[in-house]
Amino acid sequence: MIYPVAVYGHTVLRKKAIPVKKDFPDLDVLVNNLFETMHSSDGVGLAAPQVGLSQRIIVVDASPFAEDEPALENFRKVFINPVIEKRFGDVVTFNEGCLSIPNIREDVNRPEKIKISYFDPEFKRYSETYEGIAARIIQHEYDHLDGILFTDLVSPLRKKIIAKKLIAISKGKFEVSYKTILPNQRVLQRQK
Ligand code: NI
Repeated sequence: MIYPVAVYGHTVLRKKAIPVKKDFPDLDVLVNNLFETMHSSDGVGLAAPQVGLSQRIIVVDASPFAEDEPALENFRKVFINPVIEKRFGDVVTFNEGCLSIPNIREDVNRPEKIKISYFDPEFKRYSETYEGIAARIIQHEYDHLDGILFTDLVSPLRKKIIAKKLIAISKGKFEVSYKTILPNQRVLQRQK
């Protein structure tokens, strides 16, 4: 099932998501739906709050970046209750976008490496280190779990420049090929 994606201005994007409980019903179905939603909108990452569900789950499919980083060819992962334990390495700049903020891309600085612990859908715990594009996507999605958007992290000047565009998005003045939910809860089906 493909969910509509909440866009900028929706309160769910600013909430701190709650930890997923072990008895969360049909977690596998939810995870599959998150992947399906992400793929249908050509995203490389999606956090549950973006589909209106304030739970600490993110999915990542970094395979579109395999041309730049061959190791990402099969990088398709779900992170449940993730905790970034350490951010390290150089701070690097990368041009980010977000399915919840259509048609805006901005340079964002983040550390190039992370150490993260998380659970898989069977609640097996992992602790892993990521770098490069994988670390970039995970940090972006992880921020969604704490109500942080990439546009919060740009320079004061860039914030000023994009302010009007963000207001326009919150009012539904944008075109995307996937279904969205506006701050007033309307579910839209838009075509390119
Ligand atoms: Ni995002």
